[in-house]
Amino acid sequence: MKKVKCLISGGATREHFDPVRYISNPATGKMGIAIAKASARKGWDTTLVLGPTFLPNPEGVETINVTSADDMFEALDKLFDSCDILIMSAAVSDMKPRVRKGTKVKKGDINFNVDCVPTIDILKTLSMRKKNQRLVGFAAETDNLESYALRKLEEKNLDCVAANIVNSGEGGFGSDKNEIILFMRDGTRRFLTMSSKHVIGDELIDIFEKEYFADSTELYTL
Ligand code: CTP
Repeated sequence: MKKVKCLISGGATREHFDPVRYISNPATGKMGIAIAKASARKGWDTTLVLGPTFLPNPEGVETINVTSADDMFEALDKLFDSCDILIMSAAVSDMKPRVRKGTKVKKGDINFNVDCVPTIDILKTLSMRKKNQRLVGFAAETDNLESYALRKLEEKNLDCVAANIVNSGEGGFGSDKNEIILFMRDGTRRFLTMSSKHVIGDELIDIFEKEYFADSTELYTL
């Protein structure tokens, strides 16, 4: 008997210039933690790869704490081949300093024209060796939600994009609530109206179970 193996990423990443300075974004990991708890409640074999956050690791969920996009990739890369679904809710930084200094750079020696290079696109890289896994990406946008979400669905070879607007209203980074539109591979859409991230987490896992694992009940038994 095999349980669904669910791999989730959450939170921001930090890309350090030196031990005391970094590039990051306002994500807190609340959505990823809520999805991980929902997955564990469903009885799925759940692993959460979580960026730096003030929140405690969720009880009863195997959690791997990481800092940078490279660390997050390393952790997910090891687990990806054996998972059934990857839900990539992390807000991975798109850039990192070209050089990371081992000791604190003195103020007078700082290069104020920041010299950055792109981070690895974790989801796109993993999607290239996708076999039977289902891949869910997130799209946090300030505008053009639909066209950007659909582009991500294609470019990252995803089964679903969970899209939300982050610069207005109640939902988004750091909020306890969220509102999501799911763009599914078959062209259908699901609207998850403004609710607590815990409710959204349960709704997402219920939808993914019905969409992706309902026909495998003899294989995926709790
Ligand atoms: N993602 C990733 N690796 C990155 C950047 C993003 O795996 N280096 C993942 C995110 O976890 C998310 C999806 O890709 O599931 C979309 O992330 P997003 O930041 O919205 O989009 P980007 O691909 O970074 O593109 P843009 O910043 O232009 O919107």
